[in-house]
Amino acid sequence: MRSIRRNNALLLAAAALLAALAAACSPGDPFRSTGSYPIDVFQEMHYNQTHKAQEPPRFLPPEDSYPVQGGFIPVEEIENIAEMPNPLDGDPSAMRRGALLYKQNCAACHGLLGGGDGYVGGVLADYNVNRPPAFGGAGGVSVVRDTGTTEIPPGEAYRRVSAGFGFMPAFEALLSETDRWALVSLLDAEIAERQAALQAVNDIPEERRALELLRLRGQL
Ligand code: HEC
Repeated sequence: MRSIRRNNALLLAAAALLAALAAACSPGDPFRSTGSYPIDVFQEMHYNQTHKAQEPPRFLPPEDSYPVQGGFIPVEEIENIAEMPNPLDGDPSAMRRGALLYKQNCAACHGLLGGGDGYVGGVLADYNVNRPPAFGGAGGVSVVRDTGTTEIPPGEAYRRVSAGFGFMPAFEALLSETDRWALVSLLDAEIAERQAALQAVNDIPEERRALELLRLRGQL
């Protein structure tokens, strides 16, 4: 009687062991198993299906797909960009937004008030490149150099700020379309109006400038 019970216990233990082994041999979750091992006891992160370092790109969209929320179009591919009117004309917050962006992105070269006297501009004087110009009065964007003043239409200013010009870097990958047009609104204003907008922005603390820019962008 006693030995039968012991045999039963042994049988049970053997069955449990077999069941455990059988579970270990199953291929595991078919969606996560990589098939790297014949026995997939557990899935290691290292063997999962994410993109590996130095592996060629895999996550490309299907060939016939297209972005439904619009995509980035380089300014050089936009036809007649120079004749394009500023879509922010008449927008009361465009100057302020432009001034906040100018302070962050342009003042180091073009000067705090647009006088062409920024710190980096001074450094560039030692190199054989064109200095950042100053900005004059309205009538299109008025670019003031030692050699004279040129008026460029707003669309052309937008193109040059977007794609870069001479030593000036391209801003199209850094700033949104609306941000770049807001900068054109600032440059396209009367000189006194622009300087007042820039002075107002220079006078407020940096953290408030960052928050206000987010607010004007509708991100706050
Ligand atoms: C690293 C310095 C630097 C920064 C930053 C910079 N610029 Fe310039 N910018 C220049 C230089 C240098 C020129 C003159 C290039 C030339 O004449 O070859 C220039 C020229 C220009 C011109 C005149 C183009 C023309 O038709 O002659 C405009 C407009 C302009 N910048 C706007 C901006 C705006 C707006 C920003 C900020 C978003 C900005 N720049 C940031 C250096 C800079």
